[in-house]
Amino acid sequence: MKQILVTGGAGYIGSHTVVALYEAGFQPIIVDNLSNSKVVVIDRIEQITGQRPIFYQFDLRDGAQLDQLFKRHNIDAVIHFAGLKAVGESVEQPLRYYQCNLEGALSLFHVMAKHACHRLVFSSSASVYGDPVAVPIPETAPLQPTNPYARSKRMIEEFLGDLCVASPEWSVSLLRYFNPVAAHPSGLIGEDPNGPPNNLLPYIAQVGVGRREFVSVFGDDYDTRDGTGVRDYIHVLDLVEAHIKALAFIKHEPGCHIHNVGTGIGYSVLEMIAAFEIASGVAIPYRMESRRAGDVATCFADPSLSKTQLAWEARHDLAAMMRDHWRWQSENPAGYV
Ligand code: NAD
Ligand code: WQD
Repeated sequence: MKQILVTGGAGYIGSHTVVALYEAGFQPIIVDNLSNSKVVVIDRIEQITGQRPIFYQFDLRDGAQLDQLFKRHNIDAVIHFAGLKAVGESVEQPLRYYQCNLEGALSLFHVMAKHACHRLVFSSSASVYGDPVAVPIPETAPLQPTNPYARSKRMIEEFLGDLCVASPEWSVSLLRYFNPVAAHPSGLIGEDPNGPPNNLLPYIAQVGVGRREFVSVFGDDYDTRDGTGVRDYIHVLDLVEAHIKALAFIKHEPGCHIHNVGTGIGYSVLEMIAAFEIASGVAIPYRMESRRAGDVATCFADPSLSKTQLAWEARHDLAAMMRDHWRWQSENPAGYV
């Protein structure tokens, strides 16, 4: 069985990927410092798959531990999720964000190179496009990241591009995610934000279980169907499937490849609230508030390159996203405890 190192594998997207790796016949190995996740996730993965993933708790910046791990295991490829991801926090704490995201990535790439492991899938983000000049957004669109988090993603993309030019044995997939939502249909793993959620659907779902009173809708004066922001929400299972396809793709395609991972369909904030109410049967009170700094009106992907090159496209519709998100939230109202 091929061993795949999953950095950040105890996190939201990483944990779902570990499950999918088992299903695809790989052996996942997790490294996570648990700075934004809980160890109980490992038990939940075991409950779903019947297999207990090998788990190392350390920070990626600890090159010595990483080196030991690569000595102990024959790692075929790495999926690199580990990093900090809160946009607002990155504006307040740029040093912490650059240190974690850039130093973590450099430490990982250095140890990979040392052990001649040259296959990598990296979690990038649609936030590298900033305020898009047009939608849908193709991979060739201008890049104008507007905050330290997004810039850290772009910088890592650039490192990897340089690495592939200098060393042709590298095969790298940069996946630019749009807005991941929902959870595994078992209801056992899902997103469990620390403190008030920054993202829309986790916030709506916490209102749904009574943890919060109402949703603040950030702006109703955008140039969109109903004045609220429009985004490309993608089911985490579809997102994870793109990683499995990317692993297959880079096996045969050296160089650095960029793919959007989105559905190509945009929904507004009010459409999201309405769809959640239908799926959950719970009324969601909301209040119109002013725009959130840094937000754009509309953002959705052109996913056609992923379809032709990776043979991947999203299969879950909005109703499925809402159903699975609600199952996770209603069965785990306080998150992982
Ligand atoms: P997450 O916070 O749930 O998972 C990240 C995991 O990495 C956490 O378990 C955390 O403990 C771990 N981690 C952080 N820094 C680490 C370090 N230095 N060493 C070891 N472990 C470390 O986040 P997620 O939503 O699963 O996102 C995964 C990746 O996808 C991130 O790189 C994120 O930037 C990217 N991404 C996420 C979204 C999104 O909306 N969720 C969108 C685009 C891109
Ligand atoms: C979606 C829409 C808000 C919360 C962020 C990051 C991006 C990526 C995904 C990591 C917007 C509105 C939100 C709320 C609201 N992450 N909203 N009330 O901003 O598209 O993307 O997460 O890479 O980098 O920037 O997602 O879920 O925060 O917002 O009205 O309480 O919901 O204004 O229109 P966003 P989001």
